[in-house]
Amino acid sequence: MPVTIDELVNYVAGRALDTVVDSRDRHDPVVKLASPAELQQLFAQAAPLDLKADDVPDNAALIAAVDLVIDRSVHTRHPRFFNQNFAGADPVAIVGDWLAASLNTTLATYEMAPVFTLMENAVLSRLAELVGYRSATNSANQLESPAGVMCPGGSTANMMALQLARHRKRPDSIRTGTGGERLTIFTSASGHYSTSKAAAVLGLGTEAVVKVPDGPDGSMDAVALRNAVEASKAAGQVPFAIVATAGTTVTGAFDDLDALADVAEEFDLWLHVDACFGGAALFSPRIHHLLDGVDRTDSFVWNPHKMMGLTQQCTLFVVSEPERLDACFSSKADYLFQPDKLNAELDSGDRTFLCARRVDALKIWLTWKARGDSGFTERTNHALDLADYTRAAIANSDGRFVVVAPGPYVNVVFRWLPPVLRNTTSSIDDLSPQLRQALHDVAPGIKARMQTEGTAMVGYQPIHGLNAFRLLFMNPEVTTDDVDETLRLIDAYGEHEWADR
Ligand SMILES: Cc1ncc(COP(=O)(O)O)c(C=O)c1O
Repeated sequence: MPVTIDELVNYVAGRALDTVVDSRDRHDPVVKLASPAELQQLFAQAAPLDLKADDVPDNAALIAAVDLVIDRSVHTRHPRFFNQNFAGADPVAIVGDWLAASLNTTLATYEMAPVFTLMENAVLSRLAELVGYRSATNSANQLESPAGVMCPGGSTANMMALQLARHRKRPDSIRTGTGGERLTIFTSASGHYSTSKAAAVLGLGTEAVVKVPDGPDGSMDAVALRNAVEASKAAGQVPFAIVATAGTTVTGAFDDLDALADVAEEFDLWLHVDACFGGAALFSPRIHHLLDGVDRTDSFVWNPHKMMGLTQQCTLFVVSEPERLDACFSSKADYLFQPDKLNAELDSGDRTFLCARRVDALKIWLTWKARGDSGFTERTNHALDLADYTRAAIANSDGRFVVVAPGPYVNVVFRWLPPVLRNTTSSIDDLSPQLRQALHDVAPGIKARMQTEGTAMVGYQPIHGLNAFRLLFMNPEVTTDDVDETLRLIDAYGEHEWADR
């Protein structure tokens, strides 16, 4: 009996729901590793991945393919997935995303998204209140002056912030481009790479981005920033924006926003806060002070799809003077934003770089309502507790592990050390070139063993030229037992890897 489209849809929906309600058993693999060739082969036995002109639809084969999709994907809700700064998607967010997809509309106009327009304005207003851009709002305020706009990812929001900044400094640039001027942007050496990409896209060039040195804790050195701005001006350039980072991607460092705001005010620079990762600090009294000065900034972006488990993507971009969005991004396309239609003033499409926009507003509204600020606080504090627990476990590991960057946030960056390097007084900087290379290579070796067995997933990256692991905490399902087991696994793989060298 052939499988009908309705049966296929029901099957996929059922399997998708299973993945939401059944959290992965910690003994199931995080991933069943397969090479591209192996994957091609597995799918060839179900439904080949390639699309051919003479393909005959076969829904039974697609059911087998859907099983394979689930079986062979990375399970980011698994309690031993620590690889990325998103993990443990909230079931409420997942189903909110599904519902938005099934209603399939665009957030560009009120006409097409009446409910979602109001929801978007409500979540942006609440964020603007938390940031300090506006006092407690009422519905009229939200409607008359939305606090910002949702974006498809933090990189887009960072780019839009820089466009706003340039527009404030050189209002004509929208029409005329930047001319011969060298406009400069300042961000920390550890800031996200999206700033450089944005500079390239905006026609400023990546060399317009001045990477200000970090202080010892990995945050931007405000004195170095001031010197860099002075130097840029002395060279005849036009500084126009600072991109501060609240929660750097690798070590979780927070720039001192008050100190940066002083520099921004002195030189009339736009101060944008990339809080894509660290915005969760708004909800935790334990680390809220890391955002001191945030109310003095010009724009702020937060990705609830990182710490809060919203499904990707979910990006909230708020601006202290939100009317600047219209001035900067309005195109007044008369086929879409007819001024004489009903509720024309509620269209959001002229506040953003995009045309059609995915409805990411429903899932964040639903999740925020279902969890409340208190749920977000709990989730953040749980992650902070686990990070503290891990740092303490590392301190008590008899030298097996050493913390490399003792950040204040949910990132634990550390190295595994072979027996020969444990509890010695000599510094890593004094290692022979051979030993240093071996230590550098051991991290990818450990990770490859871990991926092959599917027992956990942990990231690594060079820190001062030497690879170090990074555990990221945000999934509420993770327990201290998961931390212990993951450290035990790294140590066991490390012993094998080192012995094989
Ligand atoms: C600090 C920071 N900024 C920006 C981004 C980019 O966000 P997105 O991936 O949503 O574009 C990231 C992503 O990890 C990040 O960590």
